[in-house]
Amino acid sequence: MAHVLGIDIGGTGIKAAPVDLGDATLLAERVKVDTPQPSEPEAVAAAVGELVTGFSWTGPVGITFPGVVIDSVVKTAANVDKAWIETDARKLFGQATGLPVTVINDADAAGLAEMTFGAGVGHNGTVLMLTLGTGIGSALFIQGILVPNTEFGHIEIRGKEAEKRASELVREEHDLSWGKWAGRVDEYLEHMEQLLSPELIIIGGGVSRQSGKFLPLLTGLRAEVVPAAMHNDAGIVGAAMAGGQSSH
Ligand code: BGC
Repeated sequence: MAHVLGIDIGGTGIKAAPVDLGDATLLAERVKVDTPQPSEPEAVAAAVGELVTGFSWTGPVGITFPGVVIDSVVKTAANVDKAWIETDARKLFGQATGLPVTVINDADAAGLAEMTFGAGVGHNGTVLMLTLGTGIGSALFIQGILVPNTEFGHIEIRGKEAEKRASELVREEHDLSWGKWAGRVDEYLEHMEQLLSPELIIIGGGVSRQSGKFLPLLTGLRAEVVPAAMHNDAGIVGAAMAGGQSSH
């Protein structure tokens, strides 16, 4: 089974590990570096190049990006430098690494990983994966098929983008209690439920490791709400899955 290096680029950190696509195991301990600030394309590409070199990697690479990615071209950059917009990310990372790369939205990658190996396995109805991190990412599935590049972190709640109220970064920056933050997450999820009626909502991002502190505080959702089985590693695994499917 294929081994692919998965690289998960976030607004705060870049995480990488080689992945066995047979069972989604990480073949080496993951390495995390800070996202360069400013997070301009060249600087991020250089960091990606260093990660690839650090693993002495010569095979395929899958890379996530925290924005809309269409045919490898970045279309939005909410939590990274705006210079990314209209950058051909496959070309840039291909040049920086000298390897074949595939680029996919970060939440889409995490969702693919969870649907194939994690909390979404066996769910054929509407499944919504939401990653709570620097921003809020979303991935929508029906019968296991991804609707790419949904951007549900940007819906408006109380006159503000949802990710500016309920992301993990907002919880940390404003030192919100678990109760207060869970209330915001709850309101957001209720909104999403009204729009999409998912049977399952998977909560990802680093904070999913602490799901016991906020999932029990959610009230009144029809959908089942569960933490990502792979927690924050879902992005790395999904990146590798995308890299493994590439024909390039
Ligand atoms: C971006 C999404 C991304 C999410 C999580 C949002 O601000 O618009 O594309 O998936 O953050 O990183």
